[in-house]
Amino acid sequence: MSAENVGVGRAEQRRFVNIAAAITATGGLLFGYDTGVISGALLFIKHDYALSSLMQGLIVSLLLVGAVVGALSGGQLADRFGRRWTALLAAIIFGLGALAAAFTPSVGFLLFARFLLGLGVGLASLVVPLYIAEIAPRDTRGALVSLNQLMITVGILVSYLIGVAFTPIEGWRWMFGLAVIPAVILGGGMFLLPESPRWLFEHDLIDRARAVLSRTRSEAEVEQEIQEIQAIKRQEEQQEQVGYRELLAPFLRPALIVGVGLAIFQQVTGINTVIYYAPTILQSTGFSAGTAIAATSVGVGLVNVGFTVLAVWLIDRVGRKPLLFVGLIGMIVALFVLGLVFALGAAGSTLLGVLATLCLALYIASFAISLGPVFWLMISEIYPLNIRGKAMSVASLCNWGSNFIVSLTFLLLVNALGQTGTFWIYAAIGILAWIFIYFLVPETKGRSLEEIEASFRGTTIAPAPTSPPPAASTR
Ligand code: BGC
Repeated sequence: MSAENVGVGRAEQRRFVNIAAAITATGGLLFGYDTGVISGALLFIKHDYALSSLMQGLIVSLLLVGAVVGALSGGQLADRFGRRWTALLAAIIFGLGALAAAFTPSVGFLLFARFLLGLGVGLASLVVPLYIAEIAPRDTRGALVSLNQLMITVGILVSYLIGVAFTPIEGWRWMFGLAVIPAVILGGGMFLLPESPRWLFEHDLIDRARAVLSRTRSEAEVEQEIQEIQAIKRQEEQQEQVGYRELLAPFLRPALIVGVGLAIFQQVTGINTVIYYAPTILQSTGFSAGTAIAATSVGVGLVNVGFTVLAVWLIDRVGRKPLLFVGLIGMIVALFVLGLVFALGAAGSTLLGVLATLCLALYIASFAISLGPVFWLMISEIYPLNIRGKAMSVASLCNWGSNFIVSLTFLLLVNALGQTGTFWIYAAIGILAWIFIYFLVPETKGRSLEEIEASFRGTTIAPAPTSPPPAASTR
């Protein structure tokens, strides 16, 4: 990986970076699959092991606990040992977790396997967008990083389909075990792919950084990017704090607030209650159980995938903020009308049942073009290079923590306030999210990671030179 890579054709460079992003996004597939597979598998596990409700809850939620731990440690690992090794570690954990769950001899061991899978999910949720953002060229960064979200939605859909396929033989062990295949692809891929050029740069491995950039950029672009990274590094070095303390630096506060805010809003607007309880929601509007319920899950999965494809196409064209604005309005309207359907006493009325179905579809589609991809993308874009991993840890930790709390409280809320009250609360939070985005979230489309960092620092990076300049400019 050196001089011979300089000068490879543009199409080939683009192809390399696209393939690298697609392979890394297998981590997203595992995230989606391992979070989704439990809904199908649990039906049989609870029967085989005669599980109490508490035990079922634990089997479901230990994954989220593992994800919190994975997200917490992932940033530190990614900053210290590199993005590539951290992704490789996630792949190994995913593989071991899948095997442990598939061959589990007892419920206790299954709990351990679910925690292990959660660790993998937490690590991957952070390092996959991080790695892709750092190898991607600025003009396609949004689409390439959002491949991660696309694969999350594909993973959820595939987990539903595998659940349906293995239902006749009650094959819950197969449902878990099949995740070994993408884990091997992720592991093999990360073994072969190069380290992120920005991480290499941060660790003074300049020649290797240059070689990696040369595989994905034209010579002029490589020079420009190196100038920018050097300039931003000089700005970082002027600062006294390092490590976690820098997270509290005043210039970083706005970025921290954006990441944590988006993390929490992505969850507390209720996405996972709809994804996992959609059949229950529709059943309570009068739909009969059985096939209709399976169809709902697959329908939700398909809408989610379809509109995420649209988001991948749009995100570098229209930008991140317009998608957030439009998507959140769709989510708020859908949640409000859904609440109304329940207030009108939906059970038994075909018309209201259809309306509820349309609301669910609108809600999922709106999430899929907005908070779904944009949150994971933005946290890979807005933090300074020298603490990017750690800062992303904070945001993803908040995301998994909020996910855990919403999952825990959804049924309690429904019992206390009814469906109408619950969905209206999510709608009201959606309005707060809209206002938050309007006032606090920056647009990152088309800007390099260094330009974004400089704007948070209140500085600038020299404008793009057409040929390599003699020296870098810091202001
Ligand atoms: C969220 C998950 C959610 C998934 C649905 C992700 O961006 O973080 O919590 O289940 O999207 O597509």
